Parts: sequence; C-alpha cells; structure tokens
Amino acid sequence: MQTILITGGAGFIGSHLTRLFVTKYPNYNIVNVDALTYAGNLANLTDIENEPNYTFVKGDITDAPFINDLFSKYQFSGVLHCAAESHVDRSITDPLAFVRTNVIGTVNLLQAAKESWKGNMQDKLFYHISTDEVYGSLGDEGFFTEETAYDPRSPYSASKASSDHFVRAYYHTYHLPVKISNCSNNYGPFHFPEKLIPLCIHNIINKKPLPIYGKGENIRDWLFVEDHVRAIDTIFHNGKIGETYNIGGHNEWTNIALVKELCKQMDQKLGRAEGESAQLITYVTDRAGHDLRYAIDATKLKNELGWLPSLQFEEGLSKTIDWYLKNQEWLNNVTSGGYQNYYEAQYNKR
Ligand code: NAD
Ligand code: DAU
Repeated sequence: MQTILITGGAGFIGSHLTRLFVTKYPNYNIVNVDALTYAGNLANLTDIENEPNYTFVKGDITDAPFINDLFSKYQFSGVLHCAAESHVDRSITDPLAFVRTNVIGTVNLLQAAKESWKGNMQDKLFYHISTDEVYGSLGDEGFFTEETAYDPRSPYSASKASSDHFVRAYYHTYHLPVKISNCSNNYGPFHFPEKLIPLCIHNIINKKPLPIYGKGENIRDWLFVEDHVRAIDTIFHNGKIGETYNIGGHNEWTNIALVKELCKQMDQKLGRAEGESAQLITYVTDRAGHDLRYAIDATKLKNELGWLPSLQFEEGLSKTIDWYLKNQEWLNNVTSGGYQNYYEAQYNKR
C-alpha cells in the first residue's frame, strides 16, 4: 500500500484529482493537505470523505516544520502538488501571497521530499501541476510546446514559472524524481465563481452584469476538468521522469464568443427569451497586462501516452451549467461572506 500526498485537494482541480485517485486506486492511501483558503472547500469532497483510503489534514504548505512532520508521519511515495494561489486578478492586487504559497510552499515540499527520500529515490515521484501561463502570450498564430521559452507576464504566472524552475532544479541538482504538466484553462463543477465561466453562470442566474475585460477578444483554450485530471493520472503512472507534458483542449474561444454561448445555453435551460442573458454583457476596464492568447500543442501527450480530450466544449459547458443549476446551495455558500467583499473591490474599481 503506497501513500500519496495531494496538496490543495479541496480546491477546484485538486478535488477532482482527489476523487479520481481515491475511487480508482483503492490500494493507494490518499492524504489531502489543504489550508482551506477562500478557494478550498471540503464540500467539494463530501462524496468521498468517508472512504477508508482517504485522509484530510488541514495545513499550510508555507509552514516548513508542518510539512516536514507530515512527510515523517506518512512516508509518502508520491506527491501530486496542486495547492496554489490561482487567480490572476488576485495576484495583481497581492503578489506576495502568490510568492509565499506558489514559490516558498513548493520549495518546502521539494525540500521535504528530498530529505524524506534521501538514499532511496526508487519508485518515488514528485508531480508538479502547473499552467500554460508560464509561456506568456501568443499572437494570432502558433501554439505553446514543451520547448517554448518561459515568458510569464503576471505575478501569478511569474510565481508558477518560478515554482516550475525550482522543481527542475531539484531534478537536476538532487536527482529528485519529478514530472511537470502545464495545462490550459479548466472548467467544470466546483470551479470557484471568481473565474470567468462560473462567475458568469452565477451572474446570469442572478441577472447581474457579465463583466468582460477590454474588448472580449482575448483567447483561452478550454479543457473540461475531468479530462485534465485523467491526463494527470496518465502522466503520473506512465510519463517519463524529468519530463514536462503540455495538456490542452484544442478548443480556443474568444471570451466574448464563450460568454455569448453561455448566455444562449442558459436562456434555454432557464426558460428565458433568446438573447435575454446576453443583454447583461458589460464591457469593463481591461485586466492589467492581460495576455492575449493561450493555445496548447498537446501532441507529445497524445503521441507518447495516448491522451486526448474526451468532451466537446458545448457538451462540457452544458454539463457544467447543469451542475451549477443543481448545486445552487454550493454556489450560494461560496458567494456569501468574503466573496462579496472581493467582488465589490474587484469590480467596483473598474
Ligand atoms: P484553486 O484556487 O481552486 O484551489 C487551490 C487550493 O489550494 C485550495 O483548496 C486552497 O485552499 C489550497 N491552498 C492555497 N494556498 C495553500 C497553502 N498555502 N497551503 C495549502 N493549501 C493551499 O486552484 P485550481 O484552479 O484548482 O488550481 C490548482 C492547480 O492547478 C494550481 O497549481 C494552478 O496553478 C493549476 N492550474 C489551474 C488551471 C485552471 O484553469 N484552474 C489550469 C492549469 C493549471
Ligand atoms: O491558462 C490556465 C490558467 O487559467 C490557470 O493557470 C489559472 O489558474 C486560471 O485562473 C486561468 O487563468 P485566466 O486568467 O485565463 O482565467 P480567468 O477565468 O480569470 O479569465 C479567463 C479570461 O476571461 C481572461 O482572458 C480574463 C477574462 N475575464 C475574466 C474575469 C474573471 C473577463 O473578461 N472578465 C472577468 O470577470
């Protein structure tokens, strides 16, 4: 029986990853460590919380003594590192929070793994979950490959790029067995409604303005979250040590086209007149340093490991909307309290 640490397992992607590993691998003990920041929510995991191979530990990856004790206690053979500050707009307001968790937190984990696995790196793995934003911004053409030079532009992407560099430094310097994946924009259930898709779903339900930054012409490559965690599973088990894999949906949308598609589907599902929700679209001041376009070339993952996305976007979006409509209590819980203050500060300054 091996014990695997998942960090940030109460967040959006982390909760899907935790669910997949707990249910698919009953022979793994999964320990989920999460600080339960505003983005972490144990309600994302109620369906698996009583599984015998699952343990939750509340804790902060910036706390090195806590992390070291955890490695001593559980003798992990693998780490799936998801915990991060993940929202670009928050990184513009408070960059240091991103340095603390994304950079220092990652180095604390790398250091603890190195010490714990000293003299026996065999069958160990530190898997770092990262983002396509480290590659910077594309023009109208081209794709990010694993060879694209890093060019992060926001405090968030700079902190993730830094963490990627530290992971590779531990591989080259200390021979720590590592893998990294860099993924495009995810969407799906349990996505915190500060991000574009769940924020617009929430606002459409409540007939509130849909804030579109700039002209809405920025492009993102969207992937259903369950496809992302399936890719992580494939890479974790079959990818090569020391390698990086890009994960993407081959599914590029301008923000304005995406929000219009969302409005169209939601009008149908809510029994509203066609075009009603699109009237909520409101152009607001652009995000500072707003990257124009992200697009992933995931050929390496397809050719070497046979992974492909499984869902068409319209279908994934429909599933996602249905989930939010069915889980309005979840949405109401996460948008009460601190969320209101964040929303006021973020959107009233625009
Ligand atoms: P999220 O913000 O939804 O969840 C982050 C989780 O980490 C939360 O549960 C939070 O409580 C926890 N956390 C934050 N700081 C912590 C700390 N100091 N100690 C312990 N736990 C802490 O993020 P997400 O969208 O699920 O992203 C997960 C990972 O995937 C991140 O590393 C992110 O960079 C990466 N990623 C995200 C996307 C995306 O579209 N969301 C795409 C590519 C990569
Ligand atoms: O590419 C992967 C990244 O995708 C992840 O690493 C990040 O953790 C994740 O947050 C996401 O970053 P983005 O900045 O692309 O996601 P977000 O949902 O914040 O914004 C998507 C696009 O929509 C972006 O061009 C900004 C725009 N936007 C966003 C918000 C919140 C708006 O126009 N209005 C909004 O209110």
